[in-house]
Amino acid sequence: MLQAAFCRRGRALSARANDSPSWRSPYTVDSSSVALAPDQVSFTAAVISSIYPDIKFALDVRVHEDGVVRVRMDEVDGIRKRYNEAASWALLDEPKASRDIQWTVRKKDLRAVYGSMKDVELVVSFDPLKVTLLRNGKEQVVLNGRGLLHMEHFRTKESVAQSKPPMDIPEEGFDVDDSNQVVMQANSRTAWFEGETEDGWWEETFSSWTDSKPKGPESLSIDIDFPNHGHLYGIPQHATRLDLPTTTGENAYYSDPYRLYNADVFEYLADSTMSLYGSIPVLHAHSADSTVGVFDAVASETWIDVSRPASTSTHTHWISESGILDVFILPGPTPSDVFAQYTGLTGTPALPAHWALGYHQCRWNYVSSDDVRSVQKRFDEEDMPVDVFWLDIEYAEDHKYFVWDKKNFPDPVDMTHDVEALARKMVVIVDPHLKRTSDYPVYQQAMELGVLVKQKDGNNDYEGWCWSGSASWPDFFNPASWDWWKSLFKTEQHGSQWSWLESTVNTFIWNDMNEPAVFNGPEISMPRDNIHYGGWEHRDVHNINGMLFSNLTSQAVIDRTDPPRRPFVLTRSFYAGSQRFGAMWTGDNLGTWEHMAVGVKMVLANNIAGFSFAGSDVGGFFGNPEPEMLVRWYGVGAFAPFFRAHAHIDTKRREPYLLDEPYKSLVRGILRLRYSMLPIWYTAFREASVTGLPVLRPHYVAFPHDEAGFPIDDQYFIGSSGLLVKPVTNKDVTEMSVYLPEDQVYYDYFSEHVYRGAPAGKEVTVPAELHQIPLLIRGGSIIPTRERPRRSSPLMKHDPFTLRVALDKDGGARGELYLDDGETYFHREGNIVWRELSAEKPAKKSKSLRISSRDLALQKPTQAVEGVALSKYSGANEFARSMEKVRVEKIIVLGLPAKPTSVRVEGGKELEWEFNQGIASSDKQEGTASALVIKDPRVSIVSDWDIIVAA
Ligand code: NOJ
Repeated sequence: MLQAAFCRRGRALSARANDSPSWRSPYTVDSSSVALAPDQVSFTAAVISSIYPDIKFALDVRVHEDGVVRVRMDEVDGIRKRYNEAASWALLDEPKASRDIQWTVRKKDLRAVYGSMKDVELVVSFDPLKVTLLRNGKEQVVLNGRGLLHMEHFRTKESVAQSKPPMDIPEEGFDVDDSNQVVMQANSRTAWFEGETEDGWWEETFSSWTDSKPKGPESLSIDIDFPNHGHLYGIPQHATRLDLPTTTGENAYYSDPYRLYNADVFEYLADSTMSLYGSIPVLHAHSADSTVGVFDAVASETWIDVSRPASTSTHTHWISESGILDVFILPGPTPSDVFAQYTGLTGTPALPAHWALGYHQCRWNYVSSDDVRSVQKRFDEEDMPVDVFWLDIEYAEDHKYFVWDKKNFPDPVDMTHDVEALARKMVVIVDPHLKRTSDYPVYQQAMELGVLVKQKDGNNDYEGWCWSGSASWPDFFNPASWDWWKSLFKTEQHGSQWSWLESTVNTFIWNDMNEPAVFNGPEISMPRDNIHYGGWEHRDVHNINGMLFSNLTSQAVIDRTDPPRRPFVLTRSFYAGSQRFGAMWTGDNLGTWEHMAVGVKMVLANNIAGFSFAGSDVGGFFGNPEPEMLVRWYGVGAFAPFFRAHAHIDTKRREPYLLDEPYKSLVRGILRLRYSMLPIWYTAFREASVTGLPVLRPHYVAFPHDEAGFPIDDQYFIGSSGLLVKPVTNKDVTEMSVYLPEDQVYYDYFSEHVYRGAPAGKEVTVPAELHQIPLLIRGGSIIPTRERPRRSSPLMKHDPFTLRVALDKDGGARGELYLDDGETYFHREGNIVWRELSAEKPAKKSKSLRISSRDLALQKPTQAVEGVALSKYSGANEFARSMEKVRVEKIIVLGLPAKPTSVRVEGGKELEWEFNQGIASSDKQEGTASALVIKDPRVSIVSDWDIIVAA
């Protein structure tokens, strides 16, 4: 991989540090300057670098109310201003700093002690500057512990030329007291620290491209180490393992650092640190007794080296092209705490519209309205559920998005109405490159408003090449673009403004190419010296660019109706904060088994980084998957939060109804399985939207103390449901080994076979023929499903529920179910159903069981829905009332010790039931579970009830 010059400089600095035993960071805090800031909550201090004693830096350290530490450093009175707005785009709000911290300023350091047990300590050491977070006296996170901090200050070519040429490099540091010595030694020391060459300081070429770098060197390097934490996760997007392999040090797995620079990469590698379409600079460091994290709010290209000096400790080195230092330390100490801390900063994932969790059928391209209609017809003829049909770029005349190609789509609104007739939706692509032509009102308006990205001269609109041919790009950093962009999505005329009248409120949006992709630009993107609003260069804001576009599109979709409805916008490019609005997918994957497998890991990494609504192209974007591969790919997609099939324009049609038997029926079965499990997905999304806990949970999240689970990234849990899945991503598989982390029973979802994780941490062999997916229910879970096949998910609204009560080895179980109208924001006014389902023995030794349903929202009104506390929640809310008649039609109890003597709703008559004697959850063997099937207990899903299973 080609490393950028600033990355080479940062890595060379690190190599010099490694080679020099006396290496010491030149950055020190001027202890006399340490002061409480006027806001009375943060500490500020002047920082000096002995390399450039005339350059001033300012440090700002604060501790937020939730214990997160924010460390900022910027150059003061420099000849230019460093980009300092990344956090303002990523953060939800300005976080509140805590007033409850016990700060002490001493001669050598500044200390803060906090936490409910006063067990957390932050130490800012002055000479050299180092920031350490400790818990119970143990180091957790250390900034600049290895002295790799370097903020290249702004300088001019002339000033550099005037300074003396480098001298011999001394072994040790130098003394600034002797003014005569300073000049000489400072020069040698500069070389010792910064290196002797001006590698790419003023200009850099990338194939035929020259980056003019008018600001000169301005990169930022910092080491962030995690003593006592042997595993690292996060920093998507990379096609790699979840447990990040090393890039430096002995036996480094990769030779290049992880790169974050949003890019449209053609045929990306399935095992690489190369940058892909999105970047979320958040990392978890994990060990059996602690999880901590960092979020580095930087928007420029960033490279991250990872090394593991010992199995119990990890080092990272972050090298960014520009920007201020703005690092948030997430103190944990559990994975759930880190999720809460990170999403407290950047927001929790939005609760999607319910239909968006159904199956999406896409292809580049459905070529006409009649094509769309016939695809819909074929799905219906084959009884395959689907919620959304997608249109790629060929719907748009000359790739002028919003403008229908009337030759092929003569009746777009009627076509959409035909899709809506079965309660389905359309998603239509809108890319950010605007065709530069006078007959395109969208481009014309953007140009007239002056909201297009500028060339490096800062005056003329930048022109590049994309699908549309010659194009310009709206600059969404410019607030003047916001209302204009939103107005485009109105489905009714508002004033003289051009709006998308040929769409309906069921037309949702796909934002692609928003890295941005520019076919004739460097690395298929925009020149870095392009100018955005505020005079910032593109290099400063690059990784945020895509997020602004899709987040704004989401807001446009929310706002186009009154009352507002939840949006659906799929984005290819993303950043920290994208989770507040939309969904993402892993871009142009290949139709290979390797890509299928790494897609699972990439979706998990996104979940770790706060962005749960993620998936990969089912089938693989490129290529023509054989039927076996396609079936397996549906098995992967059905267990991803976002489930969409997509294919390149040159591929053969591969809609699932085109498959021969038995493949067609297998895919139909998988689609129906997904639909039956929508209550589980939706309930998991509710939790994510409130707590920040991810929808997909790898082992280290679900079982943070179980070391053997830390590297596992091919099986995972869905929310808190207790479902454990291991999608098959290899050819010719007939069985799979599944890791069970605990001494507990796990039931095969389909065969009801009991597996046991005893002794804790055991691999079990689960059947995985082509018609099977390893899917286990953790003992102790209650799984709500809806099992009536329907054409689309809204048609399931009043369908009855099945409950699978999977008893744990002690004979109990618990589950949750969340429902609301699935498309508006009335849930925030308390229009919800949030139930707690439980199964308990009335007494410890009893063989009887009480299965109950209770109103969880009544118990936890402040935790029911995202963003608001339901102060006036009522179980008889309008939505709940509309669901009164929705009943539980079947309850399956797995693992009962013996055949019951009676089963009845408390106080009611005997119910109809059947019992198959298998083995009990409390037995020690493996085999088919005992199963009690209660038929139609006639209890409502919204009311409290108790069913007594008497022994
Ligand atoms: C690139 C996207 O990644 C792909 O999904 C899409 O089909 C093409 N652009 C055409 O719009």
